[in-house]
Amino acid sequence: MANELMSKRVKKGDIVIDATVGNGNDTIFLSELVGDMGKVYGFDIQATAIINTKKKLLEKGFLERTKLFEDSHENINIYIHEEVDLIVFNLGYLPGGNHEIITKADSTVAAINKGLKLLKKNGIMIITAYYRHLGGLEEKEVVEKFLGNLNQKDFSVLKFQFINQINYPPMLFGIEKR
Ligand SMILES: C[S@@+](CC[C@H](N)C(=O)[O-])C[C@H]1O[C@@H](n2cnc3c(N)ncnc32)[C@H](O)[C@@H]1O
Repeated sequence: MANELMSKRVKKGDIVIDATVGNGNDTIFLSELVGDMGKVYGFDIQATAIINTKKKLLEKGFLERTKLFEDSHENINIYIHEEVDLIVFNLGYLPGGNHEIITKADSTVAAINKGLKLLKKNGIMIITAYYRHLGGLEEKEVVEKFLGNLNQKDFSVLKFQFINQINYPPMLFGIEKR
């Protein structure tokens, strides 16, 4: 669903942000979508995520259209000084990495809040919340509460949720700036 939304909304030349680079799947996917005239900014607090993703981008020939920062996404405003078309978050831990390094409610909400200010009119933010791990449920609830309180004059907020799956299936939030 997140990939479908990205494919539908991101055009060649767009400027986008991957707020949780991890293994780089979304960064690479977005790099293809924006093309060589576009730009993908990425954030992750883990050096391994940044280093491994840079290698993959280099192999694909996408390095020039990307800029990755080894820093928390809550500092997004320090690095990005232009409006963007799309921002994507994947909350949780790095698959195949240290499961104790997770996104956390306070910094996630701070990053979402700052990210929403950077969105262009009609720009979108996609947040996939994984919350089976310790701390995940609390984060998902804080995020959901924050999004639910956004003024409807400024943002349209959707929640996509499995209603027939057990074991905390991931949940997706889609926000469009009006
Ligand atoms: C679920 S993974 C991301 C998966 C990624 N989208 C992919 O395609 O592989 C979550 C990532 O968020 C990172 N992370 C945790 N806290 C962060 C923060 N405050 N700022 C930026 N990244 C953070 C973790 O290091 C981890 O790599």
